[in-house]
Order: sequence, then structure tokens, then C-alpha cells
Amino acid sequence: TDKPLVLGIETSCDETGVGIVRGTELLANTIASSMDEHARFGGVVPEVAARAHLEALTPTIEQALETAGIALADVDAIAVTSGPGLAGALMVGVGAAKALAVALDKPFYAVNHLVGHVGADLLRDDEGDLELPTIALLVSGGHTSLLHVRSLTDDVELLGETIDDAAGEAFDKVARLLGLPYPGGPHIDRAAASGDPAAVRFPRGLTLPKDLEKHRYDFSFSGLKTAVARHVERMRDDGIEVPVADIAASFREAVADVLTKKAIAACVDLGVPRLLLGGGVVANARVRELAAERAAAAGVSLRIPPLSLCTDNGAMIAAIAAQRIMAGHGPSPLDVAADSTLPV
Ligand code: KG4
Ligand code: ZN
Repeated sequence: TDKPLVLGIETSCDETGVGIVRGTELLANTIASSMDEHARFGGVVPEVAARAHLEALTPTIEQALETAGIALADVDAIAVTSGPGLAGALMVGVGAAKALAVALDKPFYAVNHLVGHVGADLLRDDEGDLELPTIALLVSGGHTSLLHVRSLTDDVELLGETIDDAAGEAFDKVARLLGLPYPGGPHIDRAAASGDPAAVRFPRGLTLPKDLEKHRYDFSFSGLKTAVARHVERMRDDGIEVPVADIAASFREAVADVLTKKAIAACVDLGVPRLLLGGGVVANARVRELAAERAAAAGVSLRIPPLSLCTDNGAMIAAIAAQRIMAGHGPSPLDVAADSTLPV
């Protein structure tokens, strides 16, 4: 077969991901997470993440090769996330990928993490092919970005992103102030199931007419987080028991509302009847529900890859490199550096 066999490495945050693909076929998607080590800090600690990648990378590569049933020498190319992400964490992956490429004498492909999230959809085998152009909404603990994707190899436009906290980060912070464990997203989601989403009308960031002019596709969650904190403090001061389920449901509603409203608005404004979701927050029940509802109402087709491909992984990085190889693009120069603020 002429489909390139690519090994992809992802170390931009707390997941050490190694994936192996042949073209758009997923052969391995191996993950080691340092999440547990960050739990007591209530968020990812960059130095801890970088050290964990260093320790996990070699065993994770070995495990991925075993899963795929191939030897390292069989690989046609090495791909890696070069940014955006945590500087030290990225450096571990980029250094390792270059070392492998040089030692094996194979081409090296540096891949943008956000583009990788979009590429994850190529690897699913349950739906038809990803159609382009598409709008993509990527929501995780590290990013909240809205993209206009015309080509996975060379035409991805950033429409907007969070100007403060990422949506997942807001879930984690609100969970913490409600006394729920880290990472808080799944706990809020569970608590919200039995709560009233209309109990409190929390603010929807950057949705006022004056905000829309400059920040039509941008997000802001720090005001929402502060509003929840104030609300909870006031109740505690007044000796009222905090209704965790109602607060969780009202907070979740505010996040899901803004995310889906802006994503669908982009589809409508730009005449792109397709929306792709990615990132760990896509697990959220209300985000999925409201996205489906609003997409249907707007005549937009909605794609949500399985969660194992939505969260950070190396396979999506390999998938983008495979697309570039199949499109005839050459490798990246070996002096490409990790770039924590790499634009799309
Ligand atoms: O993509 P991801 O696994 O990793 C990185 O951000 O690197 O996303 C993790 C984020 C965390 O902030 C977590 O709280 C959030 O996704 N998350 C959720 C849910 N499951 C995970 N947020 C809301 N609802 C969920 N069900
Ligand atoms: Zn990510």
C-alpha cells in the first residue's frame, strides 16, 4: 500500500500521547496521563507535566508499536505537536521526535495541536468522511477555539478563542469552589443532571451587542467563574446551604449556551453547514445536547468523534502528517522549535 505509516507524538499538556496511523487508518492510540500528579494542585503544573512526559515517552512509544504490531524501523515518518501548549512539555516531545527522525533517517513533521484536533475526525470509522470546509469548535482544559477549516494541510483560520480561561478550566475552577474533585468537568456534569439549569441566570461572556463587534467568535469564562464564586459566597455568608446541583446545572447551561451559540453563528455567518467538535469538554452532556439541537435547527450537520479521539492524543497528530505526505508536502525542517503560542 502507498498509505504512509506515521508515528505521532503529542506532549503539549498533561497527556503523553503516541499514535500510529496508516493514512487515515488508526493502528494505535496510546496515552499515559500525569493527571493524578496534578490533582492536588487543582490544575496542570508545567514542570511536573514536562518531567512526566520524559518518563512516560519511551514506554508509551513501545506500547503503541506493540499495539500496532509494527517495529520502529517500519515507520515512514515521525510527527509531533510543536505547539501551542506548555513550553517545557512541548520541548520533550519535539526533542524526542527529532531524535527519532534523525536516528531512523525518516522525515519529520511538526504539527499544530489545534489542527491535530480537527484531524482526529479522519480516524473514526463509524461515519462517512469529514467534509470540508467545516467550522470546528475545540474545547478542552487548555483551549477554547473556533476554527474555519478549508484544508487540513494548509488552510485553517482561527475565527476566535477564549480571551481568558478555557472552558474546561472554568469547569475545573467552579468544581473546586463547589468542593468537587479535580478534574471537575465530569463531576459538574454529573451533579448538573439533577439540578435546575434556570435556578440562577449566570452571565454569558462576550455576548452583548458591544462585545460582538470585536469579539463575535471569542469566548470569556472568567466573569462567569467569578459570578458563580460570588453567588456561592453570598449563600454561605447568609448561612444557606449551597444547592450544588442547581449551581452546577446553571453554570453548565451558561457555558453550553455560549459555546454552541457562537459556533452555530459562525456556521450561519460564513455559510458553512458543518460543525465539528473536539477536546475533552465535548464529553459534556449539555454541550452535546444543545449543539445537536441548535445544529438541527440551523440546518448544520454536526460531527463528534469518539471521546478517545477528542481528548489529546498522538494519533491525531500522525493523521495530519499523513495528510501532508499524501498531498505531496515535504517534511518540516529539523530546526523547527517548540512554540507555546504557535498560531494555526
Ligand atoms: O482535552 P482534555 O482531556 O485535556 C486537556 O485539556 O489537555 O480536556 C480536559 C478538560 C478538563 O478541564 C475537564 O474538566 C474537562 O475537559 N471535561 C469536562 C467533561 N469531561 C472532561 N468538562 C465538562 N463536562 C464534562 N463531562
Ligand atoms: Zn488539546
